[in-house]
Amino acid sequence: MNEPGRLIAFEGIDGSGKTTQWKRLAARLRAGGREVVLSYEPTRNRWGRALRDAWLGGKRLPVEEEIHLFERDRREHLHTLIRPALARGAIVLLDRYYYSSAAYQGSREGQTPEAVLARFETFAPAADLMLLFDLPVTEALWRMNDSGKSPDAMEVRGNLERVARAYRSLDRPEIRRIDASGPPDEVERRVWDVVRRVLP
Ligand code: TYD
Repeated sequence: MNEPGRLIAFEGIDGSGKTTQWKRLAARLRAGGREVVLSYEPTRNRWGRALRDAWLGGKRLPVEEEIHLFERDRREHLHTLIRPALARGAIVLLDRYYYSSAAYQGSREGQTPEAVLARFETFAPAADLMLLFDLPVTEALWRMNDSGKSPDAMEVRGNLERVARAYRSLDRPEIRRIDASGPPDEVERRVWDVVRRVLP
């Protein structure tokens, strides 16, 4: 455990609903009087911005370069925000953490989820809880309001499926799979059931 604080990572494919639950959990914990720090990766700092700018330009960086940028971004995030918050005893809720690198970069050519995970574990603390929001790719695509008709749809789908498979292959004791189907209130109850067990 990241005593005296707690680190909880929200993970899953795009459209899995993790961001909604990330906000809901923050509200619930704050209502209970706890200090909550909400953050996400990639950050809005310089390395995170470099990553977002590359994507917005429609460019796919070589995977080694992407991993390198995520590493710079994550090191800065840990130094400036995550570690100090944990040391104060805050509950840090992250919308994506290094498990995303394992799933997204680790499913690209020449990489494996396990190798990417191991690389980040050399310097980044494991989450106390990694919530993996699990939803069939088709449903995630509906939620993202994808018509399924554009020429890119199959590519998007294939990519999400690779990422979903990479997520499912991750094997670490902090990982809890959350069934992300059904109404948000129901998913929130499932999340709470798991989270309340690791609170200080
Ligand atoms: P996302 O949480 O979807 O951000 P936004 O809501 O701003 O679109 O994350 C953006 C993308 O970043 C997402 O497609 C996954 C990707 N990503 C990686 O590929 N590797 C990583 O390590 C992280 C943190 C994110």
